[in-house]
Amino acid sequence: MKDWLRQLPKAELHLHIEGTLEPEQMFELAARNGVQLPFVDVGAVRAAYKFDDLQSFLDLYYQGMNVLHTENDFFELAMAYFQRAHADGVVHADISFDPQAHLTRGLDLATPFDGLTRAMQQAEQTIGMTSALIMSFLRDREAAEAAEVLEQARPWHDVIAAVGLDSAEQNNPPEKFTAVFERARALGIRRVAHAGEEGPAAYIRGALDALDACRIDHGVRCLEDPDLVAHLRESQMPLTVCPLSNVYLKVVDRLVDHPLPAMLDAGLNVSLNSDDPAYFGGGMQNNFLACHEAFGWDENIFRGLARNAVNAAFVTDARRAEILDAIDHC
Ligand code: HPA
Ligand code: ZN
Repeated sequence: MKDWLRQLPKAELHLHIEGTLEPEQMFELAARNGVQLPFVDVGAVRAAYKFDDLQSFLDLYYQGMNVLHTENDFFELAMAYFQRAHADGVVHADISFDPQAHLTRGLDLATPFDGLTRAMQQAEQTIGMTSALIMSFLRDREAAEAAEVLEQARPWHDVIAAVGLDSAEQNNPPEKFTAVFERARALGIRRVAHAGEEGPAAYIRGALDALDACRIDHGVRCLEDPDLVAHLRESQMPLTVCPLSNVYLKVVDRLVDHPLPAMLDAGLNVSLNSDDPAYFGGGMQNNFLACHEAFGWDENIFRGLARNAVNAAFVTDARRAEILDAIDHC
């Protein structure tokens, strides 16, 4: 099963590129850029990855990305992710980044955009891996700042597959961002949003109604609202679930307690994703394998989950058909 899961063609839809920064690369970039890290070695970094909740993770996540300074740093970060994901059988990735986390420490917008898009092109040319870029807004910052970033990103509007919404969810409801998401819609840019990770089911409703999101990131707390579950089933709204992330951030105590099997039983359109693989116990293969071990799922279930991801991915119709065909033949 382990080998079969690895070669199953997979699309990853919920991946924060800054969350792919492995401790080894963090030290390498810190040395190159003259950044002093508050850790003696990579072992100490890994030992610090014990989280109580989303916020305790975010504190380390924002600290870690301080080592990213140049266009080439972003390029190397993304290339390292693409290579690891490729080895996990990932053939397409919708990668998200947090521009405000870089602008607020003095970088300009071109630095992440240019580095990431160069890596995306190189990954397609060298390992045949396709990708799309999601520009996420930090929901714990002012909505006006997100609106400003969207305007500032004008030169890259045609390379953004979607805008997203992430960071600290509680007390930052989707409705706070209605205007900027409306502006993205007017610009013809798709919208996705984290909702129902730590926040209540009402935030999933808000992401659909106020933000017109075409995918919900996480969404695991939807089960608290049966009417919402019925709506999500009928609309087949894609929910990008991140099993190991939910364990690491204590959304659930153990993977066996995760609502994934109940979500599948409810007929929801679920995919499996790694979220922040450097922080949450690894990439797609580890997430798939952990689900196999926790839930005893067979090949058909994993094929269905892989199909759900491809059907919801930001790819051309031709690429979608090609990956679906490869899933059917494995
Ligand atoms: N949730 C919210 N914001 C995030 C996450 C997450 O899991 N990872 C990076 N930003
Ligand atoms: Zn996330």
